[in-house]
Amino acid sequence: MNDITPKQIYNRLSKVYDRSYKEPIHKIEDEFVYKYLVENSFTDGKILDIGSGTGVLLNHIGIKTDKYVGLDISERMIEISTEKFPNHKFIRGTMSNIPFDDESFDCILSLFGSYSYSLNHLRTVQEIKRVLKPNGKFLIMAYGTKYQKRESYILNHFKINSPAKFFKGKELKNLYQDFGYVKIFGMTWLSELVSKHFSYTLAKNYHFLETKFIGSIIPDKFYFQIITGQKNAKTLLH
Ligand SMILES: C[S@@+](CC[C@H](N)C(=O)[O-])C[C@H]1O[C@@H](n2cnc3c(N)ncnc32)[C@H](O)[C@@H]1O
Repeated sequence: MNDITPKQIYNRLSKVYDRSYKEPIHKIEDEFVYKYLVENSFTDGKILDIGSGTGVLLNHIGIKTDKYVGLDISERMIEISTEKFPNHKFIRGTMSNIPFDDESFDCILSLFGSYSYSLNHLRTVQEIKRVLKPNGKFLIMAYGTKYQKRESYILNHFKINSPAKFFKGKELKNLYQDFGYVKIFGMTWLSELVSKHFSYTLAKNYHFLETKFIGSIIPDKFYFQIITGQKNAKTLLH
């Protein structure tokens, strides 16, 4: 049993969070993810950022104030994101009970592991489906099973017993089976090692190739499991 909740953990880590991921591999991951979001139209329309943390998404992509809402369970994270981006909207709440009306968003994002902290993963998927507009899209980055041993995982660094769920690709895919065009791929495997011994450019290119060509074949080898899909206009809400 974990005696510390995700909310307590991220309240505690809020001030150090932005300084914690500074290794070359983290920059490579950022470049990959934010480019992928833009190139695949995950930043079009009205966006809900689930587990928005310190508002990191907005550090990388300029999203208009009326096209973005961040949702986070930690009031300290909400305070920091609001200080950084005072004109954007950040709301405190939980992803398993999203405080918005049905069909409010064109796109739902949950980046760098937030979904793994949900206290009810199935309920969260149902909520994602409910608040997405017909044909709305999602991209969720969950922790893969390998992530729990990752040296740079902030909870490992601070020796906090993680309450997160570390997913196998199949488990994650099962949860999202009601959506259309579901695709799952892993991100970051050997590229972390490569980034420690070779140049940034070589590691970045290797990371891209590894993710593009092996990520969808053996996602369980990778630190992150990224799942994308679309709410089919014919999907029934239930
Ligand atoms: C690993 S951080 C990721 C933050 C951000 N997405 C990023 O890319 O840096 C996880 C975030 O999810 C939030 N979180 C955890 N459980 C949550 C829940 N049930 N509902 C909403 N947010 C939650 C935490 O407070 C934390 O800010």
